[in-house]
Amino acid sequence: MKLSELLYDHDHQVMHGDQDTPITSGPCLDAVRVTPGSLYIALPGHREGGPEALGEALARGAAAVLVEGPDPAAERPSDTGACVVRVPDARIAAALVSVRYHGEPGRAMDVVAVTGTNGKTSVSSMYESLLTLSAGARVGVVGTSGARVGGEPIPMPRSVLSTPESPDLQYLLACMRDRGGDSVVLEATSMGLLNHRVDGAFVDVGIFTNLTQDHLDDHGTMENYTRAKMLLFQGMCRRAVVNADDPVGAAIPALMPGAVTTYAVDADADYRATDLVVDASGTRFVLHHDGHKYPAAIPVPGRFSVSNALAAVAACHVLGHDLGALVDALDRMPQIPGRFEHFGTPEGVSVIVDYAHSPDSLDKVLCTIRGFAPRRVLTVFGCGGDRDTTKRARMGEIAATYSDLCVLTSDNPRYEDPEAIMDQVAPGIESVGAPFTRVGDRRGAIALALSSAEPGDVVLVAGKGSETHQSVGGDLVPFDDMTVVHELARA
Ligand SMILES: Nc1ncnc2c1ncn2[C@@H]1O[C@H](COP(=O)(O)OP(=O)(O)O)[C@@H](O)[C@H]1O
Ligand SMILES: [Mg+2]
Repeated sequence: MKLSELLYDHDHQVMHGDQDTPITSGPCLDAVRVTPGSLYIALPGHREGGPEALGEALARGAAAVLVEGPDPAAERPSDTGACVVRVPDARIAAALVSVRYHGEPGRAMDVVAVTGTNGKTSVSSMYESLLTLSAGARVGVVGTSGARVGGEPIPMPRSVLSTPESPDLQYLLACMRDRGGDSVVLEATSMGLLNHRVDGAFVDVGIFTNLTQDHLDDHGTMENYTRAKMLLFQGMCRRAVVNADDPVGAAIPALMPGAVTTYAVDADADYRATDLVVDASGTRFVLHHDGHKYPAAIPVPGRFSVSNALAAVAACHVLGHDLGALVDALDRMPQIPGRFEHFGTPEGVSVIVDYAHSPDSLDKVLCTIRGFAPRRVLTVFGCGGDRDTTKRARMGEIAATYSDLCVLTSDNPRYEDPEAIMDQVAPGIESVGAPFTRVGDRRGAIALALSSAEPGDVVLVAGKGSETHQSVGGDLVPFDDMTVVHELARA
């Protein structure tokens, strides 16, 4: 495809070279991934690329480069004769050229995007399971746990974000289309939306789960964070499926008159769950839609999981799938790795590994556990480094409120001192007064909780879910909560 075709109708200025240059390899933001014939986009601030890496990209054979604004790098012709084009916004241009290069893959499939503070991965996984089980569909998933289609992983050259940069996202969508995908569900994070990564994905249904405090380090204020999430519902999706239990969700119908479907637990909504019965193995409820009642069950305990299931059911149904078959499939959904993942030790202790690492998710998970735990609840948790510090004491308070014993430990300290992070969490626990111990070594902390537990107790290991590494300094140290739980339980 010619560069001029990729940029057709888009504001741009050719600085040097021939804009009819053929682009024979995908658009690319990482200099090391440039191959001969690529279009390199010099995205300011991009760690693996940016204007600083222009020389490397050209040396690797980039056929053309896009630079943003008045970048001095664009002023001189490149030695390689590559075409240099200036665009007003490199992120918007990156999305546009990626969408066109890959042939608008989103148009070929039903695309669902999930946004909200918590539940994006869970709802995506439920959507995948329900469509696969009820309709034999081939579903693509893009999110925190990587990308897959029809259950087969799509390898990426490096780990990508929950919402990948647009060249990666469009590449993945194209793979899914080419491998026979019928539908795709993707996680639309607030930063992903703000940074135009989802532009041109042709989203048919946008799902809103909830909005609570998180990511203030990225957005500064809750208002900015809310505004970023709302972008999905301001012209980016055709229809919305919205949690009416959430006050921010309740404001979405005004943004998209006539195109919003609601779901709620108890509150009035198009899809509504009532009569919840929660036990350790799952939740039973009655689903109400359009004057009909459907007895339903999911193999995960908790009100928040019912809410996630309603979101997934509503999205599938809005897209034309059979509601009765979807409801039937609910109790056959497989466990989601690291999301309320359950394991029973030979001694009769229940261990739950969950990704809860924000105040709201920790609250929801612990409240659920407290609701069915026959005896004591022991919680292993920590707070991430280099992230919003204001949630630390709050998470300590929540853990202490619901637990008989808290074991405070490290959770991805990154470049911070783990002891200093724990110093900020501890006052929250102390304000409630629950017994607690500090064990900086995460394996040691899990071992302590397991050895303190008696038959009938529940141990929650919160924070990392299915992550396979602990981020310490610049290093990624292998660490997998569920593997460690199994090893210690066997020892
Ligand atoms: N609807 C929800 N409301 C509140 N907390 C939730 C919800 N769904 C999941 N959680 C909690 O949040 C954690 C993260 O869930 P996940 O589905 O991975 O969300 P995300 O992809 O949005 O980060 C889960 O491990 C669970 O503790
Ligand atoms: Mg996620």
